[in-house]
Amino acid sequence: MTKVAIVYHSGGNRTGRQAEAIARGCASVPGVETRTYSLSASQVGPDMRWRDREMMEELKEMDGIIFGSVTYFGTVSAVFKSFLEGTFGLWYDQSFKDKWAGGFTNSGSFNGDKQVTLMMLLTYAAQMGMFWVPMGDHPGANHAEASQDDINRLGAFLGPMAMSEPDSDPSQFPTPGDILTAERYGERFASVVRHWTREGNYVTPRAVDAAATAALKKAGISASDAFLTS
Ligand SMILES: Cc1cc2nc3c(=O)[nH]c(=O)nc-3n(C[C@H](O)[C@H](O)[C@H](O)COP(=O)(O)O)c2cc1C
Repeated sequence: MTKVAIVYHSGGNRTGRQAEAIARGCASVPGVETRTYSLSASQVGPDMRWRDREMMEELKEMDGIIFGSVTYFGTVSAVFKSFLEGTFGLWYDQSFKDKWAGGFTNSGSFNGDKQVTLMMLLTYAAQMGMFWVPMGDHPGANHAEASQDDINRLGAFLGPMAMSEPDSDPSQFPTPGDILTAERYGERFASVVRHWTREGNYVTPRAVDAAATAALKKAGISASDAFLTS
């Protein structure tokens, strides 16, 4: 069974509905087990460190992880960033290396600088040694007869974007086109990962980072404890 996780943070559940659509798309691919992690402020300690160690262990077992965050001030939310920093030990051990990654975001404006959010997630995936699955759908809503319900109306290639009016009823957003875009991405992502895992897991050699090892030694902490709290 191919295992795919969706890890996201949403303040008011609009990004959450986008995540659910991606999960539906993933689950539509036979042989793919999908697990969704909705991050919350309760998983962040008073020192801004991530608390949920069990989740970190579970993520190690995934073949692919789709990361998603609401866009706040042109990047991921503080909750989501706390989670990312909490994966320091996984970065050190290269636990996500050779897994598949993807990213999505939702924000209040059509643009709203959310490209930066996707770029941030792409950079994170690269630092973790992961492979990125891009959107795969042409842009919509960009010609005379186009509709706002078109697939990929925001024209993002890195991954699905959604635009939800900030004062909207969260049950009304994202729009049907943005929801469909998210579903299609989930299906594509899961198909790619399933295809890849069919031949067995591809695991390249890990090399220890000398600078991080030296810094951890000097601080007297283990990598698995760094940037996590109890
Ligand atoms: C602190 C804060 C910062 C925000 N920054 C942006 C932004 O940079 N760009 C944007 O388009 N919308 C921004 N928004 C609006 C949210 O992205 C938007 O309301 C989103 O649909 C909320 O999704 P959610 O229901 O998943 O929390 C911001 C909202 C808050 C509260």
